[in-house]
Amino acid sequence: MNLFFDSKLQDADRRKELYSGSVFVYSPSPSAFKLCEFARELTENAFHPFDPQKIHDHIPVERCVEILAELKPKFIHHPRSKELIQGLLRERGCDLEKVYFDVPRLRTAFPSDYLSAGIAYAFHPHRDTWYSAPTSQLNWWMPVYDVCPDNIMAFHPRYFSEGVVNSSHTYNYYEWNRKGRQNAAQNIKEDTRVQPRPQVPLEPDPQVRVVANVGGIMLFSAAQLHSTVPNTCGVTRFSIDFRTVHLDDVWDKAGAQNVDSKSTGTTMRDYIKGTDFSRLPEEAVELYFDGTEKEFTPSPTAASGVSERS
Ligand SMILES: [Fe+2]
Repeated sequence: MNLFFDSKLQDADRRKELYSGSVFVYSPSPSAFKLCEFARELTENAFHPFDPQKIHDHIPVERCVEILAELKPKFIHHPRSKELIQGLLRERGCDLEKVYFDVPRLRTAFPSDYLSAGIAYAFHPHRDTWYSAPTSQLNWWMPVYDVCPDNIMAFHPRYFSEGVVNSSHTYNYYEWNRKGRQNAAQNIKEDTRVQPRPQVPLEPDPQVRVVANVGGIMLFSAAQLHSTVPNTCGVTRFSIDFRTVHLDDVWDKAGAQNVDSKSTGTTMRDYIKGTDFSRLPEEAVELYFDGTEKEFTPSPTAASGVSERS
């Protein structure tokens, strides 16, 4: 796996690298930092008077879930979040006429004996493509408070080009939206939603954990195998992530190699244009139809805000 730090590569060359398994890491840009500040402001108001990073020491888990169920959608759908994503993408050399993004998620990783299901789902190793993301999807991830190696996410680079037996054939994005997502906030102690998983034991090592500063960005392909690190450092992690696709690659069906994803449905209707927040052209979305769209009526605004989609 190649790691690029503060790379000057243009977006087209960067996408090629990302589709080959490279990961890009950037120092905080002004909009990225402001987005983290905004997330901190909302989070601190929601958990007042407690320190959000230590909230697991102060309130019962049920109360915490109630607060998150309000906080997360508020951040996700706030106009300021979208504005700051626009700024961030511009600062990172994206053409907003061609780059489409998904609303930003605010994620939490609590010490695992407190909460690791439902609205704070701790992700087992997976690729986002197992969750119906296209192979051209790119993931942007940044810490909202300082993080340590024991409360972030890990890449398992050997599996970028090596398929693993998995259950992604059971996952359909439209069905997931219809059934599972509404219930995310209710899955407190354990998660009962059927998720695509590896069906064979994996070698977690070698693994790569990037410890960035607040607002520092990790950019990687949706085809990377990654997981939530079990939080053993006693500090709750807050992070922001969102996804993008580039219109040229959507039309060309370009992207990373698909080594093992068999999920159905597509997340293509979730992305909004960098300039005016319009959806992808329907003819472009239709390129990703697989027949299951006839069975379910895809929601045009799938992001409920309480789901921990991959
Ligand atoms: Fe993921």
